[in-house]
Amino acid sequence: MRGWLVVNHYLDSKKFSELYAMLCESATKLNVSLEIKTTGEIICEVSSRFAMYSLPDFVIFWDKDIYVAQRLENAGIKVFNSSKAIELCDNKILTAINLENKVKTPKTIIAPRTFEGIDYPKLDFLEYARETLHFPLVIKEAYGSFGKQVYLANDMDEAIDIVKSLHHKEFLIQEFIATSQGRDVRVNVVGQKIVSSMLRYNPDDFRSNISNGGKMKPYQLNEQQKNIALKACEALGLDFAGVDLLFGKNDEPLVCEVNSNPHFKSSYICTGIDMSLYVIEYIIEKLKG
Ligand SMILES: Nc1ncnc2c1ncn2[C@@H]1O[C@H](COP(=O)(O)OP(=O)(O)O)[C@@H](O)[C@H]1O
Ligand SMILES: [Mg+2]
Repeated sequence: MRGWLVVNHYLDSKKFSELYAMLCESATKLNVSLEIKTTGEIICEVSSRFAMYSLPDFVIFWDKDIYVAQRLENAGIKVFNSSKAIELCDNKILTAINLENKVKTPKTIIAPRTFEGIDYPKLDFLEYARETLHFPLVIKEAYGSFGKQVYLANDMDEAIDIVKSLHHKEFLIQEFIATSQGRDVRVNVVGQKIVSSMLRYNPDDFRSNISNGGKMKPYQLNEQQKNIALKACEALGLDFAGVDLLFGKNDEPLVCEVNSNPHFKSSYICTGIDMSLYVIEYIIEKLKG
């Protein structure tokens, strides 16, 4: 069995390369050949009809470049996660829309779409957010990770400043789940199975992301948390994912976001469970069936 691990053409920091190394090591352990290709290399390979002879049996797509993922799918290759699932996770607005009515999430308002140069000249929806969601409000850019594009607005002045700084970027507004301040649970799922989970907490910030200074400890999920994490993955059509759960009132779990390319090295350090092995095992099973 031969696969490609497709990664971003430009990002080459240790943060990413250590994940690729773990996936390749797990593949070797399970007798699967896994070759790293960057998205830049792929566009050349897939575009060439001569390359048809050397296309792989599967692709693990560890990037957000859904254009390349779709072209691989068009070439008849099974891509994990699918381009559609990656698209729904990458854009937090699409995630919210696709989880609606399926799992509990923080109440969410989506900013009306604007254009470059127009930005957000009318902010009446912030007034609506104040009335329905109440301050403090969480403002999230549609695209972002590591907590960097997630902001807390304590009052209308702060909310206006944040929105102005976004210019024309798409964003959503969420109720702040105060019972989850600075903590959430990361649940790693592979093929409708829970693989590992950990609590992430940060006493100094409302965001619990590890790369933003959050700490972690192993965490035993309850049934409600397991169910909601699995349901979220199903709703988004994911083969594997890292689901972030918040603690609502009476510890009721709410889905905060879903990552199609979770940074599973932190989970490995915390729990000793290597998600990459499960990913390769899952793909072997899928290709057999
Ligand atoms: N509605 C919310 N209420 C309380 N905390 C939140 C809320 N949304 C996000 N957070 C906190 O901010 C962190 C980052 O938000 P998230 O949506 O996961 O974005 P990112 O993709 O940058 O990780 C979460 O892990 C959580 O700790
Ligand atoms: Mg997150």
